[in-house]
Amino acid sequence: MMLAVSLLAALGIFSGTHASPSPPAPEPIEVFELPLPPVISNTTEGSCTADINPRGTGCIHQVFDEFQAGDFTPDGKHVIVNVEFVGAPAAPNPASIYSGEQAILIKADGTTFPNGDTWKCLSCGVPAGNARSLDPERDYPHVARNGKQALWGHNIIDCGDFALTSSQCTPNQTHIYPIHWPTSVDGSGKGGIPREMRLHPDDTHMGWSSFTSTGGQFAYFGRLQFNPSPKDGIPLAPRYDLVNVNVLIQSHGVGPIMANGTELQLHDEAISVGELRGFSGSGDEILYIGSPREANNIDVFAIHVTTGAVRRLTSHPEYIDPLAFSHDNNWFVGMDTRGSNRQMWMSGMRYIPPLIDLVTVTAASSTRNNGARRFFQPVLIDRYGDRDTYFGQGVNVAGNGSSGSVNDPNWNGRADPAFSPDSTKITFWQAIVASPDCGGVNPLVCPVSTADGGRTYRVMLAHLTKRSPQQPAPIFQIPDKIPWATPFPPGASAPNQYHLPAGNYTLRGKVQGVAHAIITSNPETGGYRSVSVRYEDYSDVKGYVINGTESVTSINTPTDPWEVKLEWYSDLHETGVVTATKKTGPGGFHLSTNAQTNLFKADGTLTTTIDGVIYEQPANGT
Ligand SMILES: *[C@@H]1O[C@H](CO)[C@@H](O)[C@H](O)[C@H]1NC(C)=O
Ligand SMILES: *[C@@H]1O[C@H](CO)[C@@H](O)[C@H](O)[C@H]1NC(C)=O
Ligand SMILES: *[C@@H]1O[C@H](CO)[C@@H](O)[C@H](O)[C@H]1NC(C)=O
Ligand SMILES: *[C@@H]1O[C@H](CO)[C@@H](O)[C@H](O)[C@H]1NC(C)=O
Ligand SMILES: *[C@@H]1O[C@H](CO)[C@@H](O)[C@H](O)[C@H]1NC(C)=O
Ligand SMILES: *[C@@H]1O[C@H](CO)[C@@H](O)[C@H](O)[C@H]1NC(C)=O
Repeated sequence: MMLAVSLLAALGIFSGTHASPSPPAPEPIEVFELPLPPVISNTTEGSCTADINPRGTGCIHQVFDEFQAGDFTPDGKHVIVNVEFVGAPAAPNPASIYSGEQAILIKADGTTFPNGDTWKCLSCGVPAGNARSLDPERDYPHVARNGKQALWGHNIIDCGDFALTSSQCTPNQTHIYPIHWPTSVDGSGKGGIPREMRLHPDDTHMGWSSFTSTGGQFAYFGRLQFNPSPKDGIPLAPRYDLVNVNVLIQSHGVGPIMANGTELQLHDEAISVGELRGFSGSGDEILYIGSPREANNIDVFAIHVTTGAVRRLTSHPEYIDPLAFSHDNNWFVGMDTRGSNRQMWMSGMRYIPPLIDLVTVTAASSTRNNGARRFFQPVLIDRYGDRDTYFGQGVNVAGNGSSGSVNDPNWNGRADPAFSPDSTKITFWQAIVASPDCGGVNPLVCPVSTADGGRTYRVMLAHLTKRSPQQPAPIFQIPDKIPWATPFPPGASAPNQYHLPAGNYTLRGKVQGVAHAIITSNPETGGYRSVSVRYEDYSDVKGYVINGTESVTSINTPTDPWEVKLEWYSDLHETGVVTATKKTGPGGFHLSTNAQTNLFKADGTLTTTIDGVIYEQPANGT
């Protein structure tokens, strides 16, 4: 039965949660920290001495500025990470190559490489002729399924015939090629800066995102094509070009909220891809952060590459962002604020339609963090996603919460988590909260890192001990054209998307009741100025009835799309399965923050209460 159901889902026949099997029981998970190279805090040339590393294979920086962990090699015994080597001696000392941002493999099975190290650098000492005109972006390291290549930011590390793990994969055998996205007809690549690049499981296609000048974000999908001797564009060095690029917008497609006369209609089938987050285990679905389905509740979705069927993967009121599927395609692990109560004050009341989100969506993103402090921890969810009362299982919840323990809340999850190819292990990384996001006027006292050398970051391995190794799902064959997307050749611009006109509308609840919405536009920004909603016995889900009013006005400066300035008034009541309220205090709630710095600042209060449990906004600056 399970097999039949998952097969039908893989074929895109089921979407939504109605056909989902009953949720899995929690399973035992053991979490360990993985070793990294020796740590130094002094970055001066020569500080990485033979006392600290007798083998002369590098020392890494105590702070995590450039650090990022990626995923496993095909044998499941190594994890790729991006480190910053510091304190190397000057050339011609052979140790001089262990300098700057580099991609390394770390051992995930407790063994060492032949030289005795628990790590091996993939990019150090690669001859200059093998690594011409590299792109400075070195984020989101990712091992290709073929084990011989790795994505390293906007570059591909390539070890020719050898596995990256092999001792035959030496610097001389290694090439590193930049990735070029020709967005303009002259090949210059001006016209869009790719970010958040993710490699498809077929090792040939890529997905990425790019910001528009107005702070919007589009997602793209294309194919890597090796270009040994480019004739145009930058760099004029052997590179990978992105070809057959599609922007993940459906031309003339439906919008998530549309007007039909004076009626509003919600379209769950709308293709509304925000930031691209990767792929399912077989590569048949693209994962992304999408338009909210409930007010102030940010979720991840999956869209089938050919059918365009959209699945909502998460519904928990808290905020989710990075995620990764298991290679058997039956599970995913997400980095989520659930459990921290970070966002419950704005999103905790369930099944409010996403109307105020026309002006508040950036607020939900900017309040999920406090500066560099994240509230993410990894959560394990089956492929069908959150449903009913199932919200997955915390990966690192066991422990006593003491300083440095696996569930120490001061160690915050970062992007990306990953599954081992046999789906029995998960790796994720964390950074410890540091000044100015603790200490000083902040009531949170800065914790002292108990990691090796006082490192402010750590890589963790979670072993799903009851699982037996699983075969990866067969890789989905990507067609040349994604039927629902829009080709984006050099010089193209994104198609216009449906824009809900300002106006006075009625939205009928799926179960009962009605919401009256007044939506006004802001001609200066081209966006919306305000949304005011009055709910009358409104219900989209049986047992959840909403009454009351909610009104939010955006007073952003038109010049800065990252700026969030909201005047917010809520007086909502929910009855039935729960008794809940969402209320602003006298004078309302006035939020002013910035989606790039994410420092919380508000006058007034917004509080959500559910069955007597009170969720309050964070204090300013925390
Ligand atoms: C860093 O190391 C250099 C060279 O060894 C030394 O001169 C300097 O004092 C050190 N700095 C600190 C802050 O320890
Ligand atoms: C790598 O190649 C260079 C010449 O390109 C050579 O001088 C050097 O000895 C080689 N290193 C190794 C370890 O084979
Ligand atoms: C729009 O509303 C009219 C009148 O209620 C209805 O007949 C029509 O089916 C609606 N259109 C859509 C696309 O739902
Ligand atoms: C918490 O667990 C650690 C081992 O993980 C142990 O060393 C420590 O004593 C424990 N602390 C408390 C307060 O139980
Ligand atoms: C919308 O409703 C408001 C408040 O009732 C009213 O002032 C305004 O004139 C209405 N606008 C339209 C276009 O009907
Ligand atoms: C919701 O409001 C309507 C009037 O708008 C009222 O008839 C109804 O009793 C209210 N329901 C609750 C649960 O307060």
